[in-house]
Amino acid sequence: MSSEGRTDMRYLTFALAKGRLAKTAMAMFEELGITCEAMKDTETRKLIFVNEELKLKFFLSKASDVPTYVEYGAADIGVVGEDTILEEGRNLHEMLDLGFGRCRMCVCGPASAKEKLQHGELIRVASKYPNIAKDYFYNKKLQTVEIIKLNGSVELAPIVGLSEVIVDIVETGSTLRANGLEVLEEVCDLSARIVVNPVSLKMEQERIRSLLLDLRRLRDEKQA
Ligand code: PRP
Repeated sequence: MSSEGRTDMRYLTFALAKGRLAKTAMAMFEELGITCEAMKDTETRKLIFVNEELKLKFFLSKASDVPTYVEYGAADIGVVGEDTILEEGRNLHEMLDLGFGRCRMCVCGPASAKEKLQHGELIRVASKYPNIAKDYFYNKKLQTVEIIKLNGSVELAPIVGLSEVIVDIVETGSTLRANGLEVLEEVCDLSARIVVNPVSLKMEQERIRSLLLDLRRLRDEKQA
């Protein structure tokens, strides 16, 4: 990506879901020559980082806030998991599967709960993702359930009797195994995605499309 020495160029702003997603995405950007040294300082309390030469800004936010920043145009581009995109249901363009952060959204629980799913019983479902859970049970399975929103360590719910099953992310499956739970049904595959504000896509089409092409090429090289 080149700024071509233009001084009138506006900044493109990236919102990145903090944690592993942001780190892996920044490593990919770095391979494309898009660097931001200040962001690597783990001690910093700064929230926004600028690459003056390329006219880019980067900030880290809670994953669930990334789609909000992008929908309102406070960020032009977001890097966030498909789970968050589906859950938040914001008005934005999902442009690219970055090919990392692969995992699955699943209905999980003790083996004994399988029958309750098959027979469409009125069960309780705990999840950090109530909208995804609702869409899956109400629109895909056509099963009426009670959805209980939790904010973390969702695997606890069936163990302590809060719910029969959970809808949660499964990556290695070790959290489930350690707690005597298993995958009962699969909802969808997930991975890290690039999302773009619809107006930014029109206004900065050339720069954004060129970045997306570079990222796609890099992703394909890594997957080859
Ligand atoms: C996620 C998810 C599962 C776990 C799955 O939790 O909610 O609990 O990772 O990973 P595994 O299949 O490799 O064990 P996270 O670590 O984000 O914390 P949380 O429980 O607070 O949501």
